[in-house]
Amino acid sequence: MPLKRIGVMTTGGDAPGMNAAIRAVVRFAIYNKLEVMGVIRGWWGLINEELKLLDHRSVSGIINAGGTVLKTGRCPQFATKEGQDRAFNTIKKNAIDGLIVIGGNGSFTAAHIFGNKYNVPCIGIPASIDNDVNGIDMTIGWDTAINTALAAIDNIRDTATSMERVFVVEVMGRDSGSIALSVALAGGCEDVIIPERKLDLEAICNDIVQGNMKGKISWIIVVAEGAGSAADIAKKITEMTSLETRTVVLGHIQRGGRPTAISRDLALRLGQEAVNRLINGEKDKAVGFCCGKVTAVDFATAIQKKEIKFEEWCHLIKVLS
Ligand code: F6P
Repeated sequence: MPLKRIGVMTTGGDAPGMNAAIRAVVRFAIYNKLEVMGVIRGWWGLINEELKLLDHRSVSGIINAGGTVLKTGRCPQFATKEGQDRAFNTIKKNAIDGLIVIGGNGSFTAAHIFGNKYNVPCIGIPASIDNDVNGIDMTIGWDTAINTALAAIDNIRDTATSMERVFVVEVMGRDSGSIALSVALAGGCEDVIIPERKLDLEAICNDIVQGNMKGKISWIIVVAEGAGSAADIAKKITEMTSLETRTVVLGHIQRGGRPTAISRDLALRLGQEAVNRLINGEKDKAVGFCCGKVTAVDFATAIQKKEIKFEEWCHLIKVLS
């Protein structure tokens, strides 16, 4: 049966470029004579039947805005059978033939389980500052987040060099070191600490002491939040090296702001691809670019731990510092 009406929602942590993705889904679906229901607050909106019909004009003026006009959130209730049954009722009652889920790894895990259990065709659009979706090159929002973090690190370098200090800068990434690795390399930082790799603080401190003896005066060490707190690490560095340390926690600043051209371009092209895949009767997969080509990967693959060549990155960061 041809599709008549689809739903679109954003779930999990917001990411810059989600709005551009919503805009692309809505306008490309309308171009293909489909109706689009916007689901408010992600899975909460399905559970509580918070929906609104989106027309062409309803997504005007949002292409350059961070966050998500559909709102988003984490929804523990969706893990329960009662929550899922209610969500399915909303879908049936509102004659939604397919769902586009804009989010990251956790959102796709939920869509994979729900879609298969209730036979609801779901297509994912990867959007997360963590770049944690397996099988695709980049999530929407990651490029914006690393540029935001990089701008902060450039500023920190000015004061670190002038006052001859060691800075420990904490970036986001509960389970993933992707932001930390990228900004540590692009920011010319001296070291990086990530959840994927065992922390060897003694080696880091040894390098600092050796460098200091040769006249090096400042360091920036980037730590992903999932690998430890900047405060604890800085305290230990001071104890082990006797050098003065300062900490900066960039936090949710990295999640906001105007999406970069890369984040927007990705969002707009993947929005179109997601609608096309639903129209073609596909389900249970996420769209994305892989090696420069637009493609789709099964949710079962997309939700696996993304492989990052962290040893190579860490090595290069050290060699170039
Ligand atoms: O969106 C991903 C992310 O920013 C992670 O890097 C971070 O650990 C988490 O979300 C924080 O989530 P919340 O804003 O719900 O505390």
